[in-house]
Amino acid sequence: MAVASTSLASQLSGPKTINYAPNFSGLRRSSSKLENFQSMSSTQSLFQHLHSHLHLSSSRKGSRGVVTMAGTGKFFVGGNWKCNGTKDSISKLVSDLNSAKLEPDVDVVVAPPFVYLDQVKSSLSDRIEVSAQNSWVGKGGAFTGEISVEQLKDIGAKWVILGHSERRHIIGEDDQFIGKKAAYALNEGLGVIACIGELLDEREAGKTFDVCFQQLKAYADYVPSWDNIVIAYEPVWAIGTGKVATPQQAQEVHAALRDWLKKNVSAEVASKTRIIYGGSVNGGNSSELAKQEDIDGFLVGGASLKGPEFATIVNSVTSKKVAA
Ligand code: PGA
Repeated sequence: MAVASTSLASQLSGPKTINYAPNFSGLRRSSSKLENFQSMSSTQSLFQHLHSHLHLSSSRKGSRGVVTMAGTGKFFVGGNWKCNGTKDSISKLVSDLNSAKLEPDVDVVVAPPFVYLDQVKSSLSDRIEVSAQNSWVGKGGAFTGEISVEQLKDIGAKWVILGHSERRHIIGEDDQFIGKKAAYALNEGLGVIACIGELLDEREAGKTFDVCFQQLKAYADYVPSWDNIVIAYEPVWAIGTGKVATPQQAQEVHAALRDWLKKNVSAEVASKTRIIYGGSVNGGNSSELAKQEDIDGFLVGGASLKGPEFATIVNSVTSKKVAA
């Protein structure tokens, strides 16, 4: 698809356009020549816009001693253990995490399955906070199989992951339900790792930004404040597939998300809200991703089940720092 679009781009606009096309392959519509041309123009202006955003961000570098961070929030790495583990394997993972050397300037969070939350909370170093992978939309009661925010707080959880693609696309949760859950958790004092991300066919249809903005808007419509939210951009095609987004693909969406926050919420929220990337992050690709200006950390699935590899990902924050 990228090859076809590029040659179409050269037929329509000449070499100048080709420079932009590869960066945006998959984000553009390509159903007709006219549409392609129109979308190419908007892509160019988007690129110019993002470029000016990046340029502006760069001017803030000096004050933080960090070279590549557009936002002002602390680097954040979450481990989403999903529906994995046994008492024994989790006790080994906790002991590996407890003995890992973690850079100090990173917020580190792990999300075990509900049934092991208490075990993890009582055995894990206080250096690492504990998150749930889901929570009920309101106060507890007659909701068989659900876990309430109050119960999560009771066992010492500080965060909850909401809107994960596996809950959206396998369980069938919709934007409104997720937005309400986020609002309830935030109102009760839990931090929310708010996931968004497009399916492969949505990316191929050029709808990546539309989908992500719509999912982000649903949070914005419900949440009382952005103080305790971390946005996790997780392209669904990259989750658990080994097909990580390129640093450029992730950066362009993160920059667009920050820009959306700036226009639709406030400049302050845009700058302080962490936007983390998830989808096949591992110890080998995290430092290149971390160098991107708008990537403020990671949400890690598979690789978070191995203590030393998770520590490597946490410590990829060093690739953001000024070389000594
Ligand atoms: P993955 O999962 O790292 O295994 O791709 C990420 C996630 O679902 O949060």
